[in-house]
Amino acid sequence: MSRIVISGGTVVSATGSVAADVLVDGERIVALAAPGSEIAESFALGASGRIDASGRLVVPGGLDVHTHMEMPFGGTYSSDTFETGTRAAAWGGTTTIIDFAIQRRGEALREGLDGLLAKAEGNCAVDYGLHMIVSDVNDQSLKEMDVLVDEGVTSFKLFMAYPGVLYSTDGEILRAMQQAAVNGATIMMHAENGIAIDVIVAETLARGETDPRFHARTRPSALEGEATHRAIELARVAGSPLYIVHLTAAEALEAVVGARDAGRNVFAETCPQYLFLSDAELERPGFEGAKFVCSPPLRPAWHLGELWRGLKTNDLSVVSTDHCPFCYKEQKELGRGDFSKIPNGLPGVENRVELIYQGVVRGEISVERWVEVIATTPARMFGLYPRKGVIAPGSDADIVIYDPGARQTISASTHHMNVDYSVYEGMTITGRVETVLSRGAIVVEKGQFVGEKGHGRFLERSTNQYLI
Ligand code: URP
Ligand code: ZN
Ligand code: ZN
Repeated sequence: MSRIVISGGTVVSATGSVAADVLVDGERIVALAAPGSEIAESFALGASGRIDASGRLVVPGGLDVHTHMEMPFGGTYSSDTFETGTRAAAWGGTTTIIDFAIQRRGEALREGLDGLLAKAEGNCAVDYGLHMIVSDVNDQSLKEMDVLVDEGVTSFKLFMAYPGVLYSTDGEILRAMQQAAVNGATIMMHAENGIAIDVIVAETLARGETDPRFHARTRPSALEGEATHRAIELARVAGSPLYIVHLTAAEALEAVVGARDAGRNVFAETCPQYLFLSDAELERPGFEGAKFVCSPPLRPAWHLGELWRGLKTNDLSVVSTDHCPFCYKEQKELGRGDFSKIPNGLPGVENRVELIYQGVVRGEISVERWVEVIATTPARMFGLYPRKGVIAPGSDADIVIYDPGARQTISASTHHMNVDYSVYEGMTITGRVETVLSRGAIVVEKGQFVGEKGHGRFLERSTNQYLI
């Protein structure tokens, strides 16, 4: 394996920034050295590569802990495979994804897990872990949760939305949480009141209101707030850690703030689409609004400021993408004439690191906070620290060389995700991922993908390292 020196850059961690050379031996970081020091120079003499990072930020590879590659939804599959999706992730500075295996009703957890592992194996450009979606809580699946925790699948997602598909009752949720309280797993919750939403959807369709805009109008933020509050109370009774996924609404954030102020192990993530886009996008003419259909939906613009505030106060601790792309042509179009049939989900795995950097550019967050929410906290939350999420001796050499001053315009014509549109089309941003290392291998070099399919390995994770 090769030795690489990354010299002259500013190494950023969640706790500070320092001028340092990063010494990489094989798959690991072996040391940080004073720039140009004797130790750095003698290491460089035997090195096979030197990356000049002058004027650049050197940051840990991002962890996107919420992606859906090849996910079945609404009669189709999300359009990125593990191959295309992890390659796009690498281009965007993300060197670890955590995707979701799905247990279908009547199946064992094992069937869903093995099925997704088979899809990912040999295809990923960067490392990957899996969460498990539990949609059939019963004695058998509760026992299986313990086995999966031992195998490094330490987080389980449940749904308060999508009745008849992935939905669990409060009783089932409570049982899964009780199991997690014993085996140490983290319960991830899709918190929307799906039973109430389905009533509103049926009433809306009956009135002949079928356009994409009604997707958002039938899923009011109050019902995300209500479900979030309910999930928090169930977790309190069961005594398990709780992680609210894709939080979008001020009402939900308020519930999380209350729980955290009370000292509970309640955490939440949001996603770039909820920080940058509003429900106005669903009002686009014709069927264009379908491009922005996801659940929970994009919210009225005033929620965005609340989410940025939550990111500053750490009531939102992680930014993931919920990357779940469906092409506009033929996939989103399945919902023409009935918004409830539009596959739910947006693309974004390639854009997350660079988009959240706009918070630094605008003075909303520090560069250290950026690293914390895109890499360090996700690693700790899902049991991968310090192997991932930090540039430190012994950590995997997952490293991004970032040009903080570059300007670029996001477009489907230049992105690498396997989807025919971008929700950020035409948005000009500052900063660019330049070079990316995954376990010591250069996978992106000056904007070119030089990695390979199959390089990415499955990550067995420990339990939550972020508990209070
Ligand atoms: O619209 C979304 N979020 N699609 C992906 C599935 C989920 O609920 O995360
Ligand atoms: Zn969800
Ligand atoms: Zn999701």
